[in-house]
Amino acid sequence: MIGLFDSGFGGLHVLRGVVKRLPRYGYLYLGDSARAPYGPRHSDEVYAFTKQGVEFLFARGAELVVLACNTASSEALRAIQQCYQKANDNKKVLGVLIPFAEAAAARTRTKRVGVMGTEGTVRSGAFLREITKVDATIKVFQQSCPLLVPLVESGQQDSEKADALIREYTRPLLEKNIDTLVLGCTHYGILEEKIKKIVGKDIHVISDRDVMPESIAAYLKRHPEVETRLEKNSMVRFYCTGDKKHFEKLGGIFFGKAIEAVQMTLGVKDI
Ligand code: DGL
Repeated sequence: MIGLFDSGFGGLHVLRGVVKRLPRYGYLYLGDSARAPYGPRHSDEVYAFTKQGVEFLFARGAELVVLACNTASSEALRAIQQCYQKANDNKKVLGVLIPFAEAAAARTRTKRVGVMGTEGTVRSGAFLREITKVDATIKVFQQSCPLLVPLVESGQQDSEKADALIREYTRPLLEKNIDTLVLGCTHYGILEEKIKKIVGKDIHVISDRDVMPESIAAYLKRHPEVETRLEKNSMVRFYCTGDKKHFEKLGGIFFGKAIEAVQMTLGVKDI
């Protein structure tokens, strides 16, 4: 199975695109909704929680785990990959960070890229590191947007407040003359059309919808040794660590259809 991990709900938006593109496979989704949001958390905590989540998915039969959360990818992907490599463990972990960074580097013409993300994502500098790893001449400008996650989670994505916040957060990036904008947080996918309208059609917007499904499809093509081991039962099983009803209600908005979750505890006592 393909496992997807997120701090809570937003990764369901990533899963939605991936399932649509690759419907044959079996999926496990874990949202650590009891401890979301990760954005304002300390990086050590994000690493510890993400590692627990990844282990949980492997223990339940995932052959490949994708960190669908930008904050978790930014703060923990590299360390988790190194940890499994060191242990000579055959556990494959991917994250949204790298495909986003590669897409941004490939698309920018002026070599000026803006990144919107949570406080944790911006503080980690991970997008800056990964985009300039592809092309050191690219200038990356980051903007943390702490009020967008609570805005989306409170159902205000179509409000005037949403417009005002997006204007406020994108203005400093537009002033830097970027030509490419990375939506570096799962929740911004819900705001994608609004953001595109506000920044204008001359800016390439990189979102999970156009990057992640193709990126996972390409990975599976390059790695038949992983692909052949994956279950092909077209099933999705959802797990959450917080309130089940809340997860199902809010999660349905991100996934685009009704979901039925299994509630789990994933506390420090479980590791
Ligand atoms: N999933 C997180 C991300 O993509 C957003 C929500 C949170 O802060 O936990 O960065």
